[in-house]
Amino acid sequence: MHLKDLSAAALPVVGTSLPHESAALHVQGRAAYVDDIAEAAGTLHAALGLSPVAHGRLLGMDLAALRAMPGVVAVYSAADIPGQNNVGPIVHDDPILASGELHYLGQPVFAVIARSRDEARRAAARAKDVLQIEPLPAQLDLRTAHATGQYVVPPMHLTRSTHPGGVAGAMAAAPHQLSGQFSLGGQEQFYLEGQISYALPQDDGGLKIHCSTQHPSEMQAMVAHALQLDANQVLVECRRMGGGFGGKESQSALFACVAALAAKKLNKPVKLRVDRDDDFLITGRRHGFEFDWQAGFDDSGRLLAVDVTMLGQAGHSADLSPPVLTRAICHLDNAYWLPDVAIHGFLPRTNTQSNTAFRGFGGPQGALVIEVIIDQIARQLGLDPLAVRQVNWYGLPGSGRDVTPYLQPVVDNIIAPLTDELAASSDYLARRAEVAAFNATSPWLKKGLALTPVKFGISFNVNHFNQAGALVHIYRDGSVLVNHGGTEMGQGLNTKVAQVVAHELGLPLARVRASATDTSKIANTSATAASTGADLNGKAALDAAQKLKKRLAEVAASHWQVAPDQVRFEGNAVLGPDGQHEAFAAIVEQAYVARVQLWADGFYATPGLHWNRDTLTGRPFYYFAYGAAVSEVLLDRLTGEWRLLRADLLHDVGRSLNPAIDIGQVEGGFVQGMGWLTSEELVWHPQSGKLLTHAPSTYKIPTANDLPHAPGAFTTRLYKGDNVEDSIHRSKAVGEPPLLLSFSVFLALRDAAAACGALGCQPALSAPATPEALLRAVQSVS
Ligand code: MTE
Ligand code: MOS
Repeated sequence: MHLKDLSAAALPVVGTSLPHESAALHVQGRAAYVDDIAEAAGTLHAALGLSPVAHGRLLGMDLAALRAMPGVVAVYSAADIPGQNNVGPIVHDDPILASGELHYLGQPVFAVIARSRDEARRAAARAKDVLQIEPLPAQLDLRTAHATGQYVVPPMHLTRSTHPGGVAGAMAAAPHQLSGQFSLGGQEQFYLEGQISYALPQDDGGLKIHCSTQHPSEMQAMVAHALQLDANQVLVECRRMGGGFGGKESQSALFACVAALAAKKLNKPVKLRVDRDDDFLITGRRHGFEFDWQAGFDDSGRLLAVDVTMLGQAGHSADLSPPVLTRAICHLDNAYWLPDVAIHGFLPRTNTQSNTAFRGFGGPQGALVIEVIIDQIARQLGLDPLAVRQVNWYGLPGSGRDVTPYLQPVVDNIIAPLTDELAASSDYLARRAEVAAFNATSPWLKKGLALTPVKFGISFNVNHFNQAGALVHIYRDGSVLVNHGGTEMGQGLNTKVAQVVAHELGLPLARVRASATDTSKIANTSATAASTGADLNGKAALDAAQKLKKRLAEVAASHWQVAPDQVRFEGNAVLGPDGQHEAFAAIVEQAYVARVQLWADGFYATPGLHWNRDTLTGRPFYYFAYGAAVSEVLLDRLTGEWRLLRADLLHDVGRSLNPAIDIGQVEGGFVQGMGWLTSEELVWHPQSGKLLTHAPSTYKIPTANDLPHAPGAFTTRLYKGDNVEDSIHRSKAVGEPPLLLSFSVFLALRDAAAACGALGCQPALSAPATPEALLRAVQSVS
């Protein structure tokens, strides 16, 4: 046995905190990303010429001037695209290169191909000199765009009422009413590896494209459509991304298409690696939202009626905004039973980048507004916000308080015991009293505390995306290679899928390797998104592993003259009922000699899902993931500066496939959400429409230093409990839900701001809660 195997052989592979498959490579800087691939001889480099205006008519362009610049080999515009000039994933409203009308400042208009990246960028930077544009008035404001009725797709409405007078009747009949506005900002994905594609022409007219993407199959389809190729002529490969966070679900397509176009035209390898500032200017990000809300409630804070209008900043085109808005609507309830609820969703069109997927996919935006509403109700009534949350929890099945506004029953509800456990372990009530005592004697520094829950639906709202494939090879030496349709972006998907296969075959993880995602291995894959990567691909890989296990068991069984179901796979060996024992590799070799197929495909489709897009009802989610967090902050009311003093996270991942990786996802999601709600602010110039915060100098993501420093002040625990649905090893998806744990930071800051005013005051705090916003909130109550 190999030495590596001995160390791990004793552990059950699933459920163990094994390191990320590339952990050592990551920390040593040896993990290869697209830009690390050795360049083929003759490789050329592309750069994009961008629109200098937010809105305008393109009258002409003097590209000859650019073609004459040093190193420039070619310059392409929309007219050079032989097929569809479109990368819109749902609505075909998103050109690869603009023609006719320019829709936002930063929109790609032409591509320069040059011998070096610097030469390409130098020529592309002259866009403003070579483009002839008639400027048009730009629409930059979400509320104004809504007022003019300009939308990227039609509005969506969801109403559920239990009151005879409808939602309005329930509102009017409620003992108390509150209403308000709330706005939250967008968020840049800020993947460490920027958008990149490297296209290599193949000898038969086909193309191979290395692309940093969450969705290789979509890249394949987009490139094929743009170049009028068949899908079988386009191969897209992604070994790993340096982060995607939703930003490489649809929006990697523009770069793949431009690199492919140039590679095809010139018959040369072409790489397009976008500069960080250009990445900010070209691509979209998380949708900022504006809300108008009204709530009716009783003396205990119980919600009787909620009416919310939400405006999502789609930008200039639809991209993934329709499903983002759907998810926002389907997460307005968060963990609460809303007997009477009306939700009106709009996606106004503005002359800004087209917004897209970002961890949570609209869910965080929808859920935050109900948390803000509950916070205001609690302050209005003089109750602890946690007490108001508790009276509003979804009930258990059959309680009559267990159906979501979109009519999916909540059958796996654990929010009450989970938050009770966290409230106890974090000393919530005692600390509430300590915070009040501190604030009573501290005029300038104020503390704030908040406990917020998470309920997050798992599955794609579009039914047919909930499928996956895998391919498992066993080689004659007993080593295993698994390929699946998911992509690795740091979240540990390859590790989890390899764990599932190793576990099933009784092998140590070191015997199983996951290979790069490749459209020639698994066809028609879904994006690795909606946190479903391990759920879908893990199950598909399990299916393949089970087929192989059955074949190997038959080989061993016939050898030992026992029944196949008496054969077990454990500790890198195959075992019979009466002490028979053979190394796994030895059985594999026997199977090979007996001409047994040693590779298998696997497939999985999530059962039981249905969704009606017109009525916004059905069962869009296979199950829900839950969690809760308590955060305590210290705010300086004179400067608006603040610190996170302590955070306690408790999150539900079902029966964890890999606790270390899951805790990493929970902590990462929390910190990323904290950045969204506090320091990460997007500012567009009010006249030119230029995104001013387009680099790390002006756009501030959180760092490790923003976490609490004191020992024990930042704790993350996984809630004990299995998924009630038959998910992969009863685990739950973990990629996105923990981002919502960061609501506790935002509401702790609101709590601290409220401590600057009279009892029951309502600080006007929008997100992000930057020091400026916090100062305004403090001023609004003092
Ligand atoms: N974690 C890392 N390290 N990097 C990422 O890009 N993306 C998040 C989440 N966690 C991301 C991440 C998003 S947006 C999603 S949808 C899931 O991972 C996708 O992977 P999964 O479905 O395998 O969880
Ligand atoms: Mo994640 S936003 O679903 O890529």
